[in-house]
Amino acid sequence: MSYDVIILGAGAAGMMCAATAGQRGKRVLLVDHADGVGKKILISGGGRCNFTNIHIAADRYLSANPNFAKSALGRYSAQDFIALVDRYGIAWHEKTLGQLFCDGSAKQIVAMLEEECAAGGVTIALGQGVTDVAHGDGLYRVTIGGVVQCAPALVLATGGPSIPKMGATGFAYNVARQFGLGIIQPRPALVPFTLGAEEALFQSLSGVSADVEVRWNKTRFREAALFTHRGLSGPAMLQISSYWQHRTPIHVDFLPDRDADWLIAEKRDRPRVSLRKVLAQALTERLADTLLERLSVQGELGAQSDKALRQMAASLANWPFEPTGTEGYAKAEVTVGGIATAGLSSRTMEANKVPGLYCIGEAVDVTGWLGGYNFQWAWASGWAAGQAV
Ligand code: FDA
Repeated sequence: MSYDVIILGAGAAGMMCAATAGQRGKRVLLVDHADGVGKKILISGGGRCNFTNIHIAADRYLSANPNFAKSALGRYSAQDFIALVDRYGIAWHEKTLGQLFCDGSAKQIVAMLEEECAAGGVTIALGQGVTDVAHGDGLYRVTIGGVVQCAPALVLATGGPSIPKMGATGFAYNVARQFGLGIIQPRPALVPFTLGAEEALFQSLSGVSADVEVRWNKTRFREAALFTHRGLSGPAMLQISSYWQHRTPIHVDFLPDRDADWLIAEKRDRPRVSLRKVLAQALTERLADTLLERLSVQGELGAQSDKALRQMAASLANWPFEPTGTEGYAKAEVTVGGIATAGLSSRTMEANKVPGLYCIGEAVDVTGWLGGYNFQWAWASGWAAGQAV
């Protein structure tokens, strides 16, 4: 059997690419070292797969070239994927912030992609390790499970190294380097922060969540934050972790809806009430206690000067945390960085100087926000390459 294209990685991007190319009449071999397809899809969105977002826009992606994703995201949109999901009768709902989830199970998305691959006559080889990739005479020779397979086109869709225990590897980076493509330093993203001994007090809040605004430089997210026994998690923290640089602080506004003088207004209204009670009502008791302990203040509102109350409100609105690090690839939903877009066509995902080599999905230096953005990039980049191979 000879193939027009070999796709390495049967995840979200690889399956979309395989189905698209197959349905165009291409003979496709889709290879994965795992024993099943779409493993990350199955565990995504708490088992319901947050498969896209209605607010997809290129500025919600991190990349050394912020314009790179525009073309693919524009040509295969969230609406296109929704239309596919609807065609399969998969029920879905919008949860929050434009995030679309299956009503039922992520298994439906994987089954849909498998059916799309079958409709394109895609050959799927699972449980097959790729030991060697070579190129010569216009053909890619890929050693899969000890057998050499050849095709004029090769697609790297093996994702990034996030969650190695699920079979994630940096394999795509190695092959990309082999063919002279650049790599933007990869690092874990959408990942919880760890806090050090200095901020150990917050560990006692493990399990407490709060609606906050978190900031790092000019980037800010308004979502829930969650204290953990190791540090900080929850959507707000995962989002900002993708931007965060080591040895820099993040700032948290614990009361993003209050103005600078809200404590002074409270003092006017109810001077005999304790600070602790006011903060416990605005936050939660446990969080209020911890913050007050750090601020070393107590007593009735009426006993505080306006200046002190204004300062306290300012502290609560701009609380610095200095993460010691993150929980790393073991807990990262995605990887920031990867194959440099400078060497790729934004229209086809083909390497500019290596005809027939395509890179798609998370392996590429395009990383989305939390909330369906990463799957949409996988679908869109997979579709773009699938149209071109
Ligand atoms: P993906 O990782 O899906 O696929 C790569 C494939 O390549 C895998 O099947 C792997 O086995 C295979 N592979 C790796 N190395 C190989 C090798 N050497 N040889 C052969 N095969 C190899 N995103 C989102 O938009 N909404 C969500 O709800 C979630 N939820 C979520 C939860 C969790 C727990 C995680 C870890 C991640 C998410 N994500 C997400 C992110 C999303 O899963 C991710 O961005 C996409 O799966 C990326 O798709 P790819 O196809 O690029 O890689």
